[in-house]
Amino acid sequence: MSSYSIARVPGDGTGPEVVGEAVKVLDVAAEVHDFETEYNDLELGGERYLRTNETLTGADLQALGSADAILFGAVGHPQVPPGVLEQDILLRMRRELDQFINLRPVKLHPGVKGPLRYVRPEDVDFMVVRENSEGLYAGQGEFTAKGSPFEVAVQQSVNSRFAVERCIRYAFDLAGSRPRRHLTLCGKTNVLTYAWDLWSRVFQEVSAEYPHVETSYAHVDAACLWMVEDPGRFDVIVTDNMFGDIITDLAAAIQGGLGIASGANINPNGVSMFEPIGGTAPGFEGTGLINPLAAIGAAGMMLRILGEVVAADAVESAVGEVAGSLPSLRAGEMGISTTEVGDRVASLVAEPEKAGTPA
Ligand code: IPM
Ligand code: MN
Repeated sequence: MSSYSIARVPGDGTGPEVVGEAVKVLDVAAEVHDFETEYNDLELGGERYLRTNETLTGADLQALGSADAILFGAVGHPQVPPGVLEQDILLRMRRELDQFINLRPVKLHPGVKGPLRYVRPEDVDFMVVRENSEGLYAGQGEFTAKGSPFEVAVQQSVNSRFAVERCIRYAFDLAGSRPRRHLTLCGKTNVLTYAWDLWSRVFQEVSAEYPHVETSYAHVDAACLWMVEDPGRFDVIVTDNMFGDIITDLAAAIQGGLGIASGANINPNGVSMFEPIGGTAPGFEGTGLINPLAAIGAAGMMLRILGEVVAADAVESAVGEVAGSLPSLRAGEMGISTTEVGDRVASLVAEPEKAGTPA
C-alpha cells in the first residue's frame, strides 16, 4: 500500500478550519482507495512569528522538503505588518523548494451561481499555468533619491530563458494531456517589449515540438475581458508571475469565488504545495462560515500529483457536486457550516454510488 508523508501547515485565520476539512476528506479517500497518509504538523504563520520572531527556519525548510507533499492553509495576521509573512513564508517556500509552477484550475460547476449570468458551466473549464519563480516577484529593483521629491523606484521584471522555457514546456505538456489541446500565451507584447519578446520566441520554439497542441496569444488586458465575456475560448493559459497572480483572482471570481479556488505550487521534480488561494479570510475565523471547498479541492490536486488519480477524480467530482448543491459558494452564504460542507464531500467520496443524487 502506498503511504504518503504530508507536511500539514494550517497557518493563520481560517486556514486551520479549512485544512481540517481537507484532511477529513483525505482520510476517507485513503480508506476507500487504499493508501495511507501520515501528517507532520508545522506551525508557520503569525502566531509563531509574534511569539518567536521566526518565519521559516532551516529546520522548517528541511521538514517541508522531505515531505511527499505540503498541505497549506493560509498565512497572514492582523498584528503582523503586511508582506512579512507573505514574503518570508509563501514566497520563500516557493523559491527554496523550487516550486516554479503555480497551477490554478478554473471550473464553473453545474448548479453554481457564478456572477456571470450569460456564461454556462461548459464555458468555464480552464487552467492557468503561472510562472512562479521570477518576473516582478524576483524582488529586484532600486530606489534613487529615496524620500526626496526626485525619488524614483524601479521594480524589475526578471525573465530568464531557463525559467520561461521550463514554464512553457510544463504548459504544453498539460495542454497536450487535455481533450481540447489548446494553449494560450497571455502577455503584453505590445508594451513590455523585452520580457514578452523572449516569452513569444520561446513559446514559438517550444510549440514546434507540440504540433498536436493548438496555440493562441492574448494580451493580458484582453484576456481579462474575454474571461468575463467569452471564457469558453480558454483551455490552458500560460503567463508570467504577476499577470498570473492577477488573472487568477479574476478567474476565481467567475467560477463562484475564492471559496472554491484551489492552487498548487509545483516542483515537478520535488515537493509541491497545495492551498486554497483565498488567504486567511479575516473576520471569518472561528465562525464556521468559511467555505472549505477550495482547500478540499487543493487536497484533490495533491492526490493527483501523488499519483492517486482515481481518488483525485473522486474528490474533484465530489467537490463539484457539493458546490452545485449550495446556494452560494461565498463565506457566510452557503446555508450550511464549514464542517457540514466537509461532511457532504466526505460522504460522497466514501460512497461514490451516491453521487448524482441530491445531497
Ligand atoms: C497568491 C498570493 C500571493 C502572491 C501573495 C500572498 C504573496 O496573492 O498566491 O496569489 O502574490 O503570489
Ligand atoms: Mn494572488
